[in-house]
Amino acid sequence: MIFNHKIIEKNAAIMTVCILITVAIGGLVEVLPLFTIESTIEKVKGVRPYSPLELAGRNIYIREGCYNCHSQQIRPFRDEVERYGHYSLAAESMYDHPFQWGSKRTGPDLARVGGKYSNNWHVLHMINPRDVVPESIMPGYPFMAERDLDMDNAADHLTALTYTGVPYTEEMIAEAQADLLAQADPDADWDGLLARYPKAVVGDFDGDPTRLTELDALIAYMQMLGTLVDFTQYQPEDLVQ
Ligand code: HEC
Repeated sequence: MIFNHKIIEKNAAIMTVCILITVAIGGLVEVLPLFTIESTIEKVKGVRPYSPLELAGRNIYIREGCYNCHSQQIRPFRDEVERYGHYSLAAESMYDHPFQWGSKRTGPDLARVGGKYSNNWHVLHMINPRDVVPESIMPGYPFMAERDLDMDNAADHLTALTYTGVPYTEEMIAEAQADLLAQADPDADWDGLLARYPKAVVGDFDGDPTRLTELDALIAYMQMLGTLVDFTQYQPEDLVQ
């Protein structure tokens, strides 16, 4: 046995082949069981695709690279759960393409920032963070309040996501632009919107009801983050199979 081992150690080619075989076995042991289950993500009640306005806000979040300073994943450790709330479930980002988990926390985790502040707080904070958090080092994004939201392609964004498996229906795609406008209009009829996207936060987000700006979309997105699953009711056994 010891003699055989010497042969392997002295011969790079045999050593390489042996390493490859060992690593391949390890890989198969990890990967093969995944083929026997239908999905690696357990579905959870309440999780739904983003509404068109939330999705527009999310696209701005991605465009501005907010993930460079903010994570969106609460890890299951006591300090994180006490600070940010229930740890993130895989299902909560199942419709994220690309996901925004991030790996850098110059600012706090945003996975459950929805409902934590008023819309007005977000407006002030996005325009100049130091107006509400004097010691903040976050950059201001005042231009978002000035720029009209580009919404002509709302339906296209939904359609594109269906290719990655997000279950937007034909009705959702047909109504995309109307839903987008309704969500930001305090006087609109929201019945259809809320039937399609339960729990959607509606209203005028940026404090200027005369225009639909990028800030409206971004705040709509901020206000829904982490709010879809009702954690007062949630039990790990309750997973929708
Ligand atoms: C250079 C790093 C940096 C970037 C980029 C950045 N932030 Fe921040 N953010 C911070 C810091 C630091 C804080 C904590 C201080 C404060 O509240 O301003 C913060 C706080 C926040 C908060 C409040 C969170 C809480 O729970 O109190 C929100 C919401 C937020 N940022 C949203 C955004 C969005 C949206 C973007 C992208 C448009 C963004 N941030 C980009 C650093 C950053």
